[in-house]
Amino acid sequence: MLKAIVYESSPPSLRILDQLLLPYTTTYISIPNATAAFHAIRSMQVRGAPAIAIVAALALAVELATTEVSESSEEVAVFVKEKLDYLVQSRPTAVNLADAAGKLSKIVEDKAAQLSGAVGGDAVRKAYINAAEAMLVHDVADNKAIGRHGAEWIESHATRHEGKVTVLTHCNTGSLATAGHGTALGVIRTLHERSSLSHAYCTETRPYNQGARLTAYELAYEKIPATLVTDSMAAALMRLKGISAVVVGADRVSANGDTANKIGTYALAVLARFHRVKFLIAAPRTTIDLATADGSQIVIEERAKNEVTMVKGPRWDAVGADGSEGLEGNGEPKALENVTIKIAADGVDVWNPAFDVTPADLIDGIVTEVGVVEKGSEGTFDLRSLFAGKDED
Ligand code: MRU
Repeated sequence: MLKAIVYESSPPSLRILDQLLLPYTTTYISIPNATAAFHAIRSMQVRGAPAIAIVAALALAVELATTEVSESSEEVAVFVKEKLDYLVQSRPTAVNLADAAGKLSKIVEDKAAQLSGAVGGDAVRKAYINAAEAMLVHDVADNKAIGRHGAEWIESHATRHEGKVTVLTHCNTGSLATAGHGTALGVIRTLHERSSLSHAYCTETRPYNQGARLTAYELAYEKIPATLVTDSMAAALMRLKGISAVVVGADRVSANGDTANKIGTYALAVLARFHRVKFLIAAPRTTIDLATADGSQIVIEERAKNEVTMVKGPRWDAVGADGSEGLEGNGEPKALENVTIKIAADGVDVWNPAFDVTPADLIDGIVTEVGVVEKGSEGTFDLRSLFAGKDED
């Protein structure tokens, strides 16, 4: 399985696959502390709601394990809280990071409260490290459960052709966006494992191209039958290619089911409704934000203009007149160094929201690790039921 996050507890280390360089180069970089994690998350060397939460949590675990901490439990708890508050500022829309920070802060506060303020610093440090490590383990198990529930729901609710389904996804929600397996891409992976998948389509996902660079890479890596399309082909695809369901991830699902996800998700939901294609959100419960009543309250990150005005990739060597120059032995053109090319007119204004909000009414189901919730008669979801018997914090 592809691994975006490589963590060792002894000796403590954290490395991430630099997703800015994929699919051209597979390079792991070391993340020894919270500052390195902040910059890797903001620059999108690691991205995807669950992955950024786990990298932030584990980077601080490595920092705590490799630096001297105070003997005072109170001081360690304050140190952890300050670092987590800082990490939460790295990207605003995905709630998983804030959710993880809130849970970890509470664990260290509770531990510090059990101990006398002047001693017990090491116990607080250990409590933090154990909790951060548990997040990595739970994410993979949760994703496998999401994959199973989502696959079963699609098999029983979406139109099938010769017993199989054809699914469209957006952005990247796979092993690269999580600790492993993935959410929406995990559902596709599971459909494939169950021999229920006829074909997967993935969108390019402009402007950052997570679909073309990352999802296409994961699908090709696992030999799942798949085709890449540009975002603007989605309507034609739904009309002509027998799409059974659209399955996407989420960065924040508000209490009524309105869902923030990668820009372009809303457009796919509108198209799916028109073409009577099922539309499924796949996300762990850590992506559900009961404190946010509806989508209008979700902060949408706006990113740099040059993500829209420029494209980045390897420069391909020109093919010589005889067709041989610049070609590898296998006939493929040789990739040269990475280049950035301007594709927009100078002086043009740019709007670059990284996410949009899909209204709950356009969503047929929300699948989490505990099952699928379907929409109520008022066009919204009762997501509180997912936390019944569980602390909602
Ligand atoms: O900007 P990104 O690449 O972090 O956006 C990622 C998405 O929108 C994903 O769909 C979402 O985070 C879910 S990842 C399992």
